[in-house]
Amino acid sequence: MNRSILTIDYTETTKDLLDPLDAELLDKAARAADGAYAPYSRFLVGAALRLENGQVICGNNQENASFPAGICAERTAVFYAHANFPETQIRAIAITASPCGICRQVLLESEKRAGVPIRVLLAAGDKVRIFQSVKDLLPFGFDSF
Ligand code: THU
Repeated sequence: MNRSILTIDYTETTKDLLDPLDAELLDKAARAADGAYAPYSRFLVGAALRLENGQVICGNNQENASFPAGICAERTAVFYAHANFPETQIRAIAITASPCGICRQVLLESEKRAGVPIRVLLAAGDKVRIFQSVKDLLPFGFDSF
């Protein structure tokens, strides 16, 4: 029997200390949140992802009276990217919340598809957490053991 302890590698910083590309991505995520449709939860979330060619794609949460039909901001952006640019790697994503488990799993698969780590920026107020890989957000995700 082996007991192990996992450590999670991330950086905590503030918005004013971000490098310009990260700051731009987070700014676009925050602006995307303004367009969210969340009349039921009133919790507006925005996401902005950067593709390998530099293109930025934004998404926000879209709710529905049939609650399970709603979708998170991250998945709106990620699925749009994969639907329209299936061969293009996602390199980074900024989200104005801490992603739910389903979105972490979706991001993990995007990272697997890309074959390179996806940088993840999570923001709340002025605070920002930066993860170098989705694996740091979802250890032991649904994958090979
Ligand atoms: N939500 C997101 O958009 N992203 C997350 O990672 C967490 C939750 C949305 C879903 C729902 O519209 C609202 O926030 C409240 O849960």
